[in-house]
Amino acid sequence: MLLGAPGSGKGTQGERLARRLDVPHISSGDLLRAEVRDGTALGTTARGYLDSGRLVPDDLVFDLVLPAVLAAAEAGGYLLDGFPRSVAQAVRADQLLTRSGAELQRVVFLSADDDLLAGRLLERAAAAGRSDDTAEVIADRLRVFERETRPLVEHYRARGMLREVAADQPVEEVTEAVLRAL
Ligand code: AP5
Repeated sequence: MLLGAPGSGKGTQGERLARRLDVPHISSGDLLRAEVRDGTALGTTARGYLDSGRLVPDDLVFDLVLPAVLAAAEAGGYLLDGFPRSVAQAVRADQLLTRSGAELQRVVFLSADDDLLAGRLLERAAAAGRSDDTAEVIADRLRVFERETRPLVEHYRARGMLREVAADQPVEEVTEAVLRAL
């Protein structure tokens, strides 16, 4: 699982690593954005959370992500990006995945400082423009990361599952560092 703040490169590395490891890249953010794009009931509920940078309620996220993880595990493995995103999600995911023999094996924390992260996201905002890439929502997403998601670093470190990789290197070097860490 790739763990990191917004802009740390989870999506970029997720795609590259999934190709190298030959497993599906399962991104909770991508799955949620697809639901919003398709105008499904789940997407309609999730939209306000995504646009404001708040975490989508756990039940919705589990309904969406868990079937994809279980199917991938059955077929040989998975690379998770953006899920679990809080200690509550991690505890619940751990119970459900262990029951199915699909438990997480390694967590890679992509570390970088806030100025670099915000800079990358503002650059993407200028180029592509995701609805949550405004200066105000980026600041909120970074705060949500600190409050809800950063505690997972210690959660997984205490379980001996965590590897840390500096995310402030060129894309190719981060990929190689993650592969070495794994
Ligand atoms: P999510 O889609 O997970 O977004 P995020 O965490 O905000 O992260 P980003 O996608 O912005 O950044 P990233 O780390 O993937 O970096 P990227 O590779 O794109 O979540 C979005 C929302 O969905 C959340 O706010 C929440 O509402 C909801 N959500 C998702 N999961 C949830 C869950 N489990 N529970 C509840 N709610 C959930 O790179 C960013 C930019 O930097 C790109 O332009 C890229 O080209 C560039 N870049 C990347 N790496 C490098 C590098 N090494 N050098 C230079 N530039 C780089």
